[in-house]
Amino acid sequence: MSRVRTAVLISGRGSNLKALISACADRQFPAELVLVISNQADAAGLQHARIAGIPTRIIPHTEFSSRESFDTALDAALHETRVELVCLAGFMRILSDGFVMKWQGRMINIHPSLLPSFKGARVHERAIGSGVRISGCTVHFVTPEMDSGPPIAQAAVPVRADDTPETLAARVLGAEHRLYPLALRMIAEGRVRLENGNAVFSGYTSADDVLISPVE
Ligand code: GRF
Repeated sequence: MSRVRTAVLISGRGSNLKALISACADRQFPAELVLVISNQADAAGLQHARIAGIPTRIIPHTEFSSRESFDTALDAALHETRVELVCLAGFMRILSDGFVMKWQGRMINIHPSLLPSFKGARVHERAIGSGVRISGCTVHFVTPEMDSGPPIAQAAVPVRADDTPETLAARVLGAEHRLYPLALRMIAEGRVRLENGNAVFSGYTSADDVLISPVE
């Protein structure tokens, strides 16, 4: 079985990278991690890649005079390693439209809300402030407009009455670690693809249980 050559782009902690590394450690998993790129030399997540023996590249955005030249360096690193699929996992750079278009359908991201709600930053604080009783996370195809690409998979968690942004973030993060490997599997197996701006699925059913929040 040939596995889909996958790169993960990070900027920090790398807990989602760690979840993807664990999933890909199974040789039956349809994707393999061949490269981890960070724009931050001190990203803690790099350590997860090093321990797992996955090649790492540090490409500091500060060394480039424009967004486009940074993205060209990213693109070159991905091509050199014959990467087929890119997972953004806490990668804190906005990518140029040209780069995104080049990788469209082959680049996915995880966001800690049920998109299209709460795009952007300070997600958990805004979710709590809005009064929603359920939040969650989304893995989506990356398109030029930030956090707006078609969802591939979503996971929901309750928002509790006494939640702080930190407690909600921790609950959502636990869901992220389950969801990202699942979404990577779906795309690596070719069971979801981007077609005319939509995610098209084959051979998937949805869970039939209901998450109600709050409960008595
Ligand atoms: C996650 O919450 C992810 O949804 C968001 O950035 C955070 C990255 O966390 N895009 P980690 O670096 O994977 O621990």
